[in-house]
Amino acid sequence: MLSIIVAIGKNYEIGQNNSLLCHLSDDLKRFKQITSGHTVLMGKNTYLSLPVKPLPKRTNIVLTRDLSISFSGCKMAHSIEEAMQIIDKNEETFIMGGADIYKQFFPLCNKLYVTRIDAEFPNADTFFPKIEEKEWKIIENTQHPADENHIYNFTYQTYVKKENHT
Ligand SMILES: NC(=O)c1ccc[n+]([C@@H]2O[C@H](COP(=O)([O-])OP(=O)(O)OC[C@H]3O[C@@H](n4cnc5c(N)ncnc54)[C@H](OP(=O)(O)O)[C@@H]3O)[C@@H](O)[C@H]2O)c1
Repeated sequence: MLSIIVAIGKNYEIGQNNSLLCHLSDDLKRFKQITSGHTVLMGKNTYLSLPVKPLPKRTNIVLTRDLSISFSGCKMAHSIEEAMQIIDKNEETFIMGGADIYKQFFPLCNKLYVTRIDAEFPNADTFFPKIEEKEWKIIENTQHPADENHIYNFTYQTYVKKENHT
């Protein structure tokens, strides 16, 4: 089973200058809690942007078309097909970005863990595909207010694909 996990701004922004839009510590804790013990799959740019790599306590799969690149402690895949062969279909695998990878895997995923950041990021240069409400059912909607550690309000929204759209 393939799931996406992503934090997006009001305009579907996800990143700028190969970094995240902002630091939301509780969201990062939640990311760790949800993905730990599982497989995470990401593009090369996202892998290079990680402060700690590979992500501990997770199987890291990194996509690149460059056959000469090998990242220590990671499984490398060179196409979507190769990635799908590495993935255990009986386990939940988390697609964790970035924009290029989300776009290609979005049609293959049945669950989305979305953090909606209540802010706009005019300098963003990477975006998430539009989530069409007719295709997705929302099963969680938990608000997190801004506070001294979180500059913006944000909301955890979990979606599952509606049956007639699988
Ligand atoms: N907000 C969030 O939740 C979130 C999460 C993750 C990332 N991000 C942000 O997203 C941005 C990065 O996104 P991005 O689109 O630039 O990069 P990306 O999706 O992380 O990586 C793109 C790279 O992946 C490889 N790739 C893509 N499709 C492939 C395929 N079908 N087969 C083999 N390799 C493939 C290519 O690497 P090669 O060029 O080596 O072939 C490509 O250049 C950053 O700003 C990051 O912080 C945000």
